[in-house]
Amino acid sequence: MASYEWIDHTFDVVVVGAGGSGLRAALGAAQAGLRTACISKVFPTRSHTVAAQGGISASLGNMGEDDWRWHMYDTVKGSDWLGDQDAIEYLCREAPQAVYELEHWGVPFSRTEDGKIYQRAFGGMTRNFGEGPVQRTCAAADRTGHAILHTLYGQSLKNATEFFIEYFALDLIMDEDGVCRGVTAWKLDDGTLHRFRAQKVILATGGYGRAYFSATSAHTCTGDGNAMVLRAGLPLQDMEFVQFHPTGIYGAGCLITEGARGEGGYLTNSEGERFMERYAPNAKDLASRDVVSRSMTMEIREGRGVGPNGDHIHLHLDHLDPAVLAERLPGISESAKIFAGVDVTKEPIPVIPTVHYNMGGIPTNYHGEVLTKVGGDADTVVPGLMAVGEAACVSVHGANRLGSNSLIDLVVFGRAAGLRAAETTEAGANQPELPKTAGDNALERLDRLRHASGGTTTAKLRLAMQRAMQENCAVFRTQEILDEGVERIAKVYGDASDIQVNDRSMIWNTDLVEAIEFDNLIAQAAVTVGSAAARPESRGAHAREDYPDRDDKNWMKHTLAWFEDGKVKLDDRPVHEYTLSNDIGYIEPKARVY
Ligand code: FUM
Repeated sequence: MASYEWIDHTFDVVVVGAGGSGLRAALGAAQAGLRTACISKVFPTRSHTVAAQGGISASLGNMGEDDWRWHMYDTVKGSDWLGDQDAIEYLCREAPQAVYELEHWGVPFSRTEDGKIYQRAFGGMTRNFGEGPVQRTCAAADRTGHAILHTLYGQSLKNATEFFIEYFALDLIMDEDGVCRGVTAWKLDDGTLHRFRAQKVILATGGYGRAYFSATSAHTCTGDGNAMVLRAGLPLQDMEFVQFHPTGIYGAGCLITEGARGEGGYLTNSEGERFMERYAPNAKDLASRDVVSRSMTMEIREGRGVGPNGDHIHLHLDHLDPAVLAERLPGISESAKIFAGVDVTKEPIPVIPTVHYNMGGIPTNYHGEVLTKVGGDADTVVPGLMAVGEAACVSVHGANRLGSNSLIDLVVFGRAAGLRAAETTEAGANQPELPKTAGDNALERLDRLRHASGGTTTAKLRLAMQRAMQENCAVFRTQEILDEGVERIAKVYGDASDIQVNDRSMIWNTDLVEAIEFDNLIAQAAVTVGSAAARPESRGAHAREDYPDRDDKNWMKHTLAWFEDGKVKLDDRPVHEYTLSNDIGYIEPKARVY
């Protein structure tokens, strides 16, 4: 192994990732007087939260009566009863306060005539426990994530968070008692290597959409924290639940917000029919995302797709007032022009269900503490380690997330993690010395990939993985297709022993960055398809044609997946069928119709 030197740092809290959840957690920890670092592989305002469009859910009731209990009911139903109801209660109850906090920090929300925060309709959001649509999604035009991210970055700087920008986190530093003591990172612009010792490491590293061929996610969405957790011998949870957003631009994958349908947009097939009326007679185009994506896929399969190959669907906004489009949906109007050549005031947008969000991730409780299963205790906390945002599986989204519940998840649980870190961490407390070998695991892997001189490029391996995931772990699944997916991913994993990295430099070595990201992705692809192949029921985004029904008797449980020596190992933990308070009781499972 080449010789490397560590540069050591000590903080009370180290947050990995500077998207919405990472910044909110860092801000909370710093406000509590903890010396807080935030490490990010991209400049904070380039984190993927910036791409969130349509809005952030909270029962403010600005556009008609609303109640956090109705929001909770919708979220439980949206999750197909796989969400933990204690965590969902926490999310929905805390949501209004979290939005007002953002408003006070300066998020430029769109406004109603009387100056309140504007709220639009989103899929699956209803009034009075499922009766009819409610406008619950608070919006800053169609650039809500952008507005929130910039505001949170400004607040984090004001509150003395120390940023380590363009540092690529490599691995957790775990001690022999299973306590997380810190994290290692590679500084991309000068090639130095860093060990961050901390009382708490908070992973806020986002999703892994780039395991798939077509995704709304940025190229940076490679689930680096999830992979670090797997390498630390800890499980990921519910990885089989991958959300396809109904309206990615055909051919480009860019997001067209659900807010487009919230403002009155609708989908049609090749016969010009508004087909959602058949699949979801009440909610129609604003049914939950899994339902709309499946309906679109069925239309295409049955020969009613649009375009020369009949392989996509039309989204109409051309009936809407151009002034409303300019005010409420300027961003997607521009995206449609650039990526589909469409003037939304005159023509429909070609769209197709596109990978958008990972419901699964690092299991946590609602404080953001990472959970594992030890000796039958499914809720054993991993000391020193926390996770938030899309990287985490709290689980509030269960088997399917409702649109606009992601941004609220980021800030509610980012704040919760900051509060928990403050409660459980003493500012400036002495920390044990790191053993001399701390970080060796990261160095060995870095060195192996840096000097990899096989014959297969990262690009080739990545494409093989992405195609296998797209074809064998998509909207509709069968045992045969999933089993084939398991084999295809295992083959790519095996082929990766022949990976070729051409650049040996430690400075701005994008070849090496891509190899590390691929190495992170392939482990997540394996646990995703492995978990999917092992769940013989249909629930939320996991739609099995060979097992079309939900099976609450046998499968109302979270999947836990480990990845050891290239093999997926599975177990489960129970869903939390209890709430936090007497203000609402457990919401009993029932048929999920929209
Ligand atoms: O459609 C959208 O604007 C996406 C929102 C979300 O995923 O929450």
